[in-house]
Amino acid sequence: MSEAHARLQADIDAIRAEALEAASAVEREADLATVRARFVGKKGAFAPLMQALGRLAPEDRPSAGARINVARDAVEAAFESARSRLAEAALAAALERGRVDVTLPGRVVAAGATHPVQQVLDDLVDLLCAFGFELADGPEVETETFNFDLLNMPSSHPARDMQDTFYLEGGLLLRTQTSPVQVRTMQSRQPPVRIIAPGKVFRCDADTTHSPVFHQIEGLWIDRDVTMADLKGTLTHFLRMLYGPDRPVRFRPSFFPFTEPSVELDVWTGSRWMEVLGAGMVHPQVLRNVGYDPDQVQGFAFGLGVDRLAMIRYGITDIRYLWENDARFLRQFPTR
Ligand code: DAH
Repeated sequence: MSEAHARLQADIDAIRAEALEAASAVEREADLATVRARFVGKKGAFAPLMQALGRLAPEDRPSAGARINVARDAVEAAFESARSRLAEAALAAALERGRVDVTLPGRVVAAGATHPVQQVLDDLVDLLCAFGFELADGPEVETETFNFDLLNMPSSHPARDMQDTFYLEGGLLLRTQTSPVQVRTMQSRQPPVRIIAPGKVFRCDADTTHSPVFHQIEGLWIDRDVTMADLKGTLTHFLRMLYGPDRPVRFRPSFFPFTEPSVELDVWTGSRWMEVLGAGMVHPQVLRNVGYDPDQVQGFAFGLGVDRLAMIRYGITDIRYLWENDARFLRQFPTR
C-alpha cells in the first residue's frame, strides 16, 4: 500500500471517529444541523478526503472510495439517531412539564347566579310589561325638586320626615323613591302614559326590614278616564298572578302627598300582613306640576318594594341577609 493511501485511510478513520463522537455529544436539536455540516456538508471534513482520493493511484481508488462511503454512511446514521434521540428527549420533557396527576381531587368551579332580589325584580317587570306598561328610567342622584317638590312635597311638608334622606352637596340627594321618574316621564311626553320604572332607592334607615339601599318599581298610568277601579283591578290581578288566586290581599286607606285618595296593599304571609305597595290616584297638583290638565286626564300610580316581595317569596325574616353576600345564604336560592 502506498504511503498516500495509508495516510488517507488513517484520515478517514479519524474523521469518522470524530464525527461519531460529535453526533452523540450534541445536546440541543437546534445545534444538530451545524454540527452535521462540519463533517458531511459541502465544506465539511469529508470534502478534502474526496480531493485526496482523486490524487491516489488509480488502483488504490476503489478501496479508498469504498472506505469513505462506508464512513460517511456511518456518520449520517449517527446524526440521524442523534436527531431521534433529541426529539424523543424534547417530547419527554414536554410531557413531563404538562404532567397531570389524575388522582388529585378536582377543583370546584363556583358558578355565579342572578341574585334572588334581581330574580324577583325581573319577574315583576316581565309581568307588568305583559299588562302593557313600558319601561322608564331616571337618575339615582336626584334634585329636591324632582324627588319632593314636584311630587307635592314642599320642604315644609311633614311627609318629608317619613323618608330619611341622604343629602349630597349642591342641593342633590340620593332618591328616596322611584316616584320622581313619574314626574320626569310626564314632563317629557303627553298622555296617555303607562310606564313602570324599576330601580334602586336610598334611605338612611337600617333594621330587620329596612336596608339603606332597596329596590322599588314605580308604576304610572295616565289617560282620559283611568279610575280607582282600574287601580284596584290592575293591582289585584297583578298580585294574584304573582302569588296565586288564593293568597289573601287587602287594600288599606293610606296617605301619600302625591296621590288622593291613597291606599296601601298588604299580602298575607301566613302569619301576618306585610305591606308590599303604596298606590293612589295621582294628585291633581302633581298633574298640574308637569303641565297636564287634571280636568282632561287622570290616573293612578303605585310604588312597590321589591326586596319585601323577595322576602315574602322566600320566607326571609331579616332583609340584611340579602346584602351580606354570604355564599352559604345565596346558594339556597334557585339559580338562574
Ligand atoms: N313613593 C312611595 C314610597 O316610597 C311609594 C308610593 C306610594 C309610590 C304611592 C306611588 C304611590 O307611586 O302612588 O314610599
